Formats: sequence, structure tokens, C-alpha cells
Amino acid sequence: MATRMKLKLKTVFVLYFMVSLMGLVYALMQLGQRCDCTEHDMPKDRTISRLRGELHRFQEQIRKSEATKQPQKQPAKPAIFVITPTYARLVQKAELTRLSQTFLHVPQLHWIVVEDSPHKTPLVSDLLLKSGLTYTHLHMPTAKDRKLQEGDPSWLKPRGVEQRNEGLRWLREDRRAQPGGDNQQGVVYFADDDNTYSLQIFEEMRSTQRVSVWPVGLVGGMKYERPVIEGGKVVRFHTGWRPSRPFPMDMAGFAVSLKLVLANPESCFDGDAPMGFLESSFLQGLVTMDELEPKADNCSKVLVWHTRTEKPKMKREEALQAQGLGSDRAVEV
Ligand code: UGA
Ligand code: MN
Repeated sequence: MATRMKLKLKTVFVLYFMVSLMGLVYALMQLGQRCDCTEHDMPKDRTISRLRGELHRFQEQIRKSEATKQPQKQPAKPAIFVITPTYARLVQKAELTRLSQTFLHVPQLHWIVVEDSPHKTPLVSDLLLKSGLTYTHLHMPTAKDRKLQEGDPSWLKPRGVEQRNEGLRWLREDRRAQPGGDNQQGVVYFADDDNTYSLQIFEEMRSTQRVSVWPVGLVGGMKYERPVIEGGKVVRFHTGWRPSRPFPMDMAGFAVSLKLVLANPESCFDGDAPMGFLESSFLQGLVTMDELEPKADNCSKVLVWHTRTEKPKMKREEALQAQGLGSDRAVEV
């Protein structure tokens, strides 16, 4: 009796197993089959053709409205040619990265980067290539006797002189080679690689006719230096040191029209100018105080800062280097 019961149970179990297996096989076969979905597709098809119709109607409306519109020719913004001297040091890549990323926000900007070096360096070449900016890469080494030596106070010799002059030389030559009446349109600005520039300063300088001027923050041992305006004209300068200089202004505080630069092909920076007279050496031959064009709300706003980057301390690096454990030289900083 017990054996028969066992047999029956076994049969039931086998049968149950077989049926489940068949069910599973059937289900798996259905997975790969196409289903007859015409019923489901119908509303989808209708929606697609309705949307297509609407799209056509919209396209037609756009075409018609564009055809009736007068072609509005926006006058092209004058280009800004920014000349930046730069030299190799630990913070160079950081400075140029910050600067290039500011410039990316400025329309119609052409960056003329002049390395103080006997050759173009891979660090600057690569940075410019990847910057996304319109640029020209030049180099011009400062003569040995004019170059600041390690330990010299920074005011001892002027900096960036030959590089700015090289930038001017390239610009004059390049513009001569450009055909058309547009080759004289533009503004020239000298942007050192360590300052801080608001985007607004570029829109202020874009309308420069001859030489435009504005305040510079954190310069000359003052909160700011600026031209003082009376009746829309520059009458003197707010500065803490030798206000009698012809143009007692920092490099960051003025821009010159390209036309004026081209009309005065000999104008350049004088590396032999006494301390504080570098900007004057260039501007003297170009403009008079009376002709200066005040920007930045009659020189009442600070839109550029003469910031200076601290020289990074390398004490730990040097200690580790002495033990052969210095940072990997292959990593560009
Ligand atoms: C101040 C002014 O802001 C500068 O425009 C002016 O050139 C300088 O004084 C001067 O009297 O010559 P400061 O901050 O003291 O500037 O100068 P840096 O920022 O050290 O140098 C100005 C520019 O020249 C920078 O773009 C810098 O990268 C470049 N430079 C500096 C070189 O190309 N070579 C150098 O050996 C040193
Ligand atoms: Mn500086």
C-alpha cells in the first residue's frame, strides 16, 4: 500500500514537472515572436501623423515670417586685440588658465600672447591650443641686462616691455596684410597675465575712438588710482605718486584704438623710461590728456584690479627632492 502511494506521488510529481517545463518552453518561444500589434499601433500612428502635420504648419509659419522680415544686419562689434606678456614661473599656467577662461566670455577677442623666452614653450603652446580662443602666439626674450634677476626688487626694471612691443609689431604687420576696410577697426589693450579683469571692462573699451581710460583697483599703494573727470573730461589723476607724470596710469587702465596704433607706426614702450613712466612713454606720442575718453561711468567704477600672485613656497618640495622623493617632473603644474 505504502509503495503504491509512493508510486502515485512520484507520477504526480513527474507530471507536474513535465507540465511546468512545457509551460516554460512555450513562454520562452513567445518571447522571440512578433506580436500582432496593429491594434496598439493605431493610436500611436495617428499621433505621429498629427504631430507631423503640426510641425509642417509651424515650419511654414516660420518661413513666412522670415520672408517678410527685413534682413537686420547687426554691425559687427569691433575686435579687441589683447596683448599679454608672460614668462615661465610656477604660477604661469594658473595665471594663463584664469585669464583665458575670462577671455572666453568676451566676444570678438583676439589674444596676442608674447612669451618672454627665446622660444615658444610647450606649456603655453598647449594651453593656447586647448583654450578655445582666437590667438596669436609670439615670443621675444628680454635682453639679459634688462631682465630682473632673482632677488631684485620688482620695481628695479620695467617688465613686459619687449613683449608688448613685439605684440604691436605683429599687429601692425598683420593688419597691413588684411584686405578690406575692416582691417583698421578694433581696440588694443595690454593685459598683464596676473591682473583680474571684469567682463564689463571689455565692453567699456570696445567703443574707444582714440584712447579710453578708467580706474584700476589695488595699485600704486592705493585702493585705486583713477583719472579725475570734470565736465566729461580728464582734468587730473588720483594717484599717490608723482601725479605730474604725463599719464600717471597703470597699464591696465587704458585702451587704444587700432586706428591710432596703425597711424603711429613708431609708437612703442620705452624700456629705458624712468620708473613709473612706461605707460607715459607709449601714450605721450598718441594722445593729449584733453582727448582721453573716460569710461566706467565717468571713471567712478573699478572694473579691473592690479592683483599680484604670491610666489608659492617650495620648502617641502625642496626637502623631498633632496631625498629623491620630489613631485613627479612629468606632471605639468
Ligand atoms: C606693473 C604694471 O602693472 C605693469 O604693466 C608694468 O609692466 C610693470 O609694473 C612695470 O613697471 O614694468 P607688476 O605687477 O609690477 O606691474 O609687473 P608684473 O605683473 O610682474 O609684469 C608685467 C607683465 O610682464 C606680466 O604680464 C608678466 O608676465 C610680464 N613679465 C614679467 C615678463 O614678460 N617678463 C618678466 O621677466 C617679468
Ligand atoms: Mn602684475
